Amino acid sequence: MSTRKPIIAANWKMNQTPTESKAFLEKFLPKFPESTPVDIVIAPAFLSMPMAAAQIVPSKSVDLSAQNMSAEPSGAFTGEVSAAMLKEVGTKYVILGHSERRSIFGEDDATINAKVKATLDNGFQPILCIGESLEEREGGKLEEVLRSQINGSLADVTAEQMANVVIAYEPVWAIGTGVTASPEQAQEAHAFVRGLLKDLFNEEVAAATRIQYGGSVKPGNAGELIALEDIDGFLVGGASLDPDSFGEIVQAGIAHVS
Ligand code: 13P
Repeated sequence: MSTRKPIIAANWKMNQTPTESKAFLEKFLPKFPESTPVDIVIAPAFLSMPMAAAQIVPSKSVDLSAQNMSAEPSGAFTGEVSAAMLKEVGTKYVILGHSERRSIFGEDDATINAKVKATLDNGFQPILCIGESLEEREGGKLEEVLRSQINGSLADVTAEQMANVVIAYEPVWAIGTGVTASPEQAQEAHAFVRGLLKDLFNEEVAAATRIQYGGSVKPGNAGELIALEDIDGFLVGGASLDPDSFGEIVQAGIAHVS
């Protein structure tokens, strides 16, 4: 078994109002009163972060994440959220380059790279999302897409900084569709991404970097996926909105390492 500590994160996307976030955490946090052998992360919407932080930051088991961050420190950027704002609420992680940011909001690898560097400069741990569309996979472009996303998004990041970077492999065709990548497809893609990290950095970085899987993760498939050699946790959308189902996914991670 690898020495990488699994990291299981809830990406709530544009769900859970401040009040709903509070109700979720009132049910979820008592399930994990002490620190666990997996890192548990919750990424609420920006407006729900202060309410959620009041419960998460004092907890021993869960860390707070943002779903995005501006690469700019401050200024005339209407609708954006800065590193200083995220620091003040106690954010540890920042999800960047999610496929919804890429496809709906037009973020490219250069934009995402600027954000990755800004999060690292500010002491956050980016959760960098990559993944191919169905068209790209069926067109034989899987490796080319993953290589250009990794090389583009991590340009100018140092091997030392990689200790604070988490990668999330999320095949776009598996997000919110109920279709999960098969264990073979997931393991193959994860091993390929680890190889890209070796090419871009070195063997140590490749061996140490945590690579999450995302795309229709549920309590019913989490155990099988976490057992795969190169899968180091999950980035969970739909199934993270219910405290019981997210709790079961975390339990699958704990059972794997225990
Ligand atoms: P689902 O778990 O709803 O498929 O979403 C995955 C995802 O996009 C997490 O970031």
